[in-house]
Amino acid sequence: MQSFKIVVSPDIVDALRREHEQIRQLCVDVRGSERGRKKYLLAKLQQAVHLHQLGETTVAHPAVRNTGPRGDAVALGSQVKGAQIDRSLTELARLGVEHPDFDTRFASLSDALRDHAAEQERDEFPLLRSHVPADRLHMMASAMRDVQIMALDGEAALTL
Ligand SMILES: [Fe+2]
Repeated sequence: MQSFKIVVSPDIVDALRREHEQIRQLCVDVRGSERGRKKYLLAKLQQAVHLHQLGETTVAHPAVRNTGPRGDAVALGSQVKGAQIDRSLTELARLGVEHPDFDTRFASLSDALRDHAAEQERDEFPLLRSHVPADRLHMMASAMRDVQIMALDGEAALTL
């Protein structure tokens, strides 16, 4: 007899943690790859960080800011830091993987990315879990996915 399975979709905190994990792994991959592949992996990382940042800015941070004065400060600080990292990554990609300073600069940027993700997981995500009802957290995960898919569609349209 087939057993009944309940499929549980991720809530926004699970989805964001998973994205952090993918970003951490891409940082490791970029650092460990040889020149030819590095450019491709860097572009993948740039896209992952950009979509993650977009999802957090449009869906996660506003909800955290609504949790109260502490949430407001935490989300605002996190948003500024995330935008800064996103910009630094764009600048570094512009500099290019061939540049003699690339590896050193990338190492410090990936440290900043890791620290930022750890801070969010420690300070920001628990606020979502403790202040936002579970069904809302699940709806937020779908809303974030929609925003990211639309952004990807937009990028594809631009390359046509
Ligand atoms: Fe994040």
